Amino acid sequence: MKNITGLRCVSCGKVYGPTELDYTCPDCGTRKGTLEVVYDYESAGKEFKEDVGEGTVTDIKRYSSLLPIENLGSLPPLKIGGTPLYGFHELTDDLDRIWIKDDSGNPTASYKDRATALAVAAAREKDIGTITCASTGNAASSLAGLAAASGMETVIFVPAAAPEAKIAQLLVYGANVFAVEGSYDQAYDLCLEAAEKYNWYNRSAAIHPYLVEGKKTGALEMADQLDWNLPDKVFVSVGDGSIVSGLCKGFKELVEIDLIDEAPRVIGVQAEGADTIARAFDRYDGGEVEIADRSASTIADSISVGKPRDIVKAVKYTYENGGRFLTVSDEEISSALVELARKRGIFAEPAAAASYAGLKKALNRGDLGDSEEVGVFITGSGLKDVSAAKKGVKGPTKVSPELSEVESAMEEGTRNAARDNS
Ligand SMILES: Cc1ncc(COP(=O)(O)O)c(C=O)c1O
Ligand SMILES: [Zn+2]
Repeated sequence: MKNITGLRCVSCGKVYGPTELDYTCPDCGTRKGTLEVVYDYESAGKEFKEDVGEGTVTDIKRYSSLLPIENLGSLPPLKIGGTPLYGFHELTDDLDRIWIKDDSGNPTASYKDRATALAVAAAREKDIGTITCASTGNAASSLAGLAAASGMETVIFVPAAAPEAKIAQLLVYGANVFAVEGSYDQAYDLCLEAAEKYNWYNRSAAIHPYLVEGKKTGALEMADQLDWNLPDKVFVSVGDGSIVSGLCKGFKELVEIDLIDEAPRVIGVQAEGADTIARAFDRYDGGEVEIADRSASTIADSISVGKPRDIVKAVKYTYENGGRFLTVSDEEISSALVELARKRGIFAEPAAAASYAGLKKALNRGDLGDSEEVGVFITGSGLKDVSAAKKGVKGPTKVSPELSEVESAMEEGTRNAARDNS
């Protein structure tokens, strides 16, 4: 495969041929044996620089020299990536500048489309007709949507408690949906068993090495949009640990091919009630990653993961990057969600607002220097979970269609409430 020299096990370091395995290292198993795609950085870098030297940011196809795709025509025929990057200056009291990369603009309204695109392309190149995945909701709706656009069947496993909008997306896209009465972690294990039994191609988090490749495109794209002058730190929400791994890998590869001098520090943000990776990171000393799973509970359903599948990559890559992990409470997530909407005009789902909550926490703790610039990834739209969003705001002022009722409400001082909730 173009520019790829092999697949390396992230735990034992064994290198396999570029197409030797679909999923994980057989010696280390599904959890520890996640594989990383290794490129010939000389040839990939040369091509990459030629490609980004022309035109402007479009979609993930622009970065294909650093992606495992044989044929661009295998990608779903939708615009994946090319999402806006907003710079906030004047509203920022404590920082030099905040860059917000809003990935809710992807076709199925989450960052997951970047990874799904690569899994769908790989399945098409292998002529596979059915893909499965287990997901807290976004990877599922992403797979259902992008597979539908590519003429493929999907079998999806989600926790029955996933937000209604995410389940509605699945059904409308035509997926075969199993709503599992259990946690995401249980849905994942069930999907793994079913995929083996029925021989379905599996896009569940971490299992396929191409997923992190798709997820790294957010880093490549942010750098491209900023003309290779990245902020000092970037914040991202963490569930299974694939997005944070993708960002670390993407920035590292840009250093490798000499497009940037130094990678921004990547700060992974977890919910306090789902902090397995943050805890493993705190114990990590550069050797083997110690895994201690726990049950998860948070309003941020997309990152409600107790048994994170990409924990080894997430811990190792973030350590190597010089970044770290933070945890935020559900209250901090809820108020970050509202502030993000009111101060920045961006409506994020709770899991996506966690990254912004992490930024607020770092600011309050004095972790950020005055002249620092930061980037924040918004990984999913607020429209995916409206009931969680409504918990953070007051309801509207109800009136019958009479001006007099508006007038008395204004006199009673409900004006501010009305404006707050408008
Ligand atoms: C909106 C959103 N943000 C963040 C994440 C975390 O990504 P990862 O599981 O790769 O850590 C997810 C995963 O489902 C998500 O849907
Ligand atoms: Zn191995």
